[in-house]
Amino acid sequence: MSAAPLTVFAPAKLNLGLEVVRLRRDGYHDLETIFQTIDLGDTLTFRREEGGYGAKLNCTGLPIPGEKEDNLVLRACRIMEKYRPPAWGGLDIQLEKRIPAGSGLGGASSDAAATLLALDRLWRLGLDHEELSDLALRLGSDVPFLLKGGVALGRGRGEILDFFTPLSKGAFLLVFPGFAIETGPVFRQLKMGLTSNAYRVSVEQVRAFLPRFPSDRMILKNRLEDVVFPAHPVMGEIAAALEDSEAVHTLMSGSGSTMFGTYPDRASAQKAALEIGVKWETHVAGPLPHGARLGWTP
Ligand code: C5P
Repeated sequence: MSAAPLTVFAPAKLNLGLEVVRLRRDGYHDLETIFQTIDLGDTLTFRREEGGYGAKLNCTGLPIPGEKEDNLVLRACRIMEKYRPPAWGGLDIQLEKRIPAGSGLGGASSDAAATLLALDRLWRLGLDHEELSDLALRLGSDVPFLLKGGVALGRGRGEILDFFTPLSKGAFLLVFPGFAIETGPVFRQLKMGLTSNAYRVSVEQVRAFLPRFPSDRMILKNRLEDVVFPAHPVMGEIAAALEDSEAVHTLMSGSGSTMFGTYPDRASAQKAALEIGVKWETHVAGPLPHGARLGWTP
């Protein structure tokens, strides 16, 4: 068993459009969304603690609200516990947080995906992708996508995935309004009777759209904006600023709070950031062709 520390990069994701198809009997919603990983991410370092027991988590960087025990990293450790080699000892985990919490960027989900991959490697379990995906879905709807990353059409809760050839161009300007949004209440406030599934997309449409990204020939919308925009007028102001900056698409990611624009290249995203960044915190990002990755940082 290896004693060397293992570093894992856990990227953020954007939703390049999100439609809510229906409320399910289990309380979740069936979605259709295009997931895309980006080159903004957290870094996790896993160290074996000889003679210790259980997992200890230390966080640096951006604040993480809530009880530490509820952190998805520790929850991922707990669901992997049954696979732990008996003589392993404890785990010391360092999390450098760069993805803002409650921002719709899947930060906690990506940390969970990174933890599953790290423990599979450290404990030499050799779990296959299907087993890891099943464990991932127990931790959150976005976690199965983040195990693999790149770009995919997600359906069901987000775990039925069709992966596509990663984007080779395009850039994103992320705009943070300065507050977090909890996902559950946003879904609960959605009035399903009023939705018409206007933004449903097929695998063929996505496959045709991605090589032209970010051409505006495909309409990208996030249904959850119907709930979040009326509650937070600033989101509409950010959308207007992104539209003025000539973003090809202007969208909210996940259940918010991040808004983003799509641009043909990094230079245009950076140009837009000069103006929008005066008023709000911004970050220019590019597409990443993979998800949580062992022994790698960008
Ligand atoms: O799966 P996850 O823990 O990320 O979801 C957080 C909350 O968002 C769920 O408890 C549920 O209320 C809502 N949700 C949903 N349908 C989805 C994903 C999330 O209703 N497909």
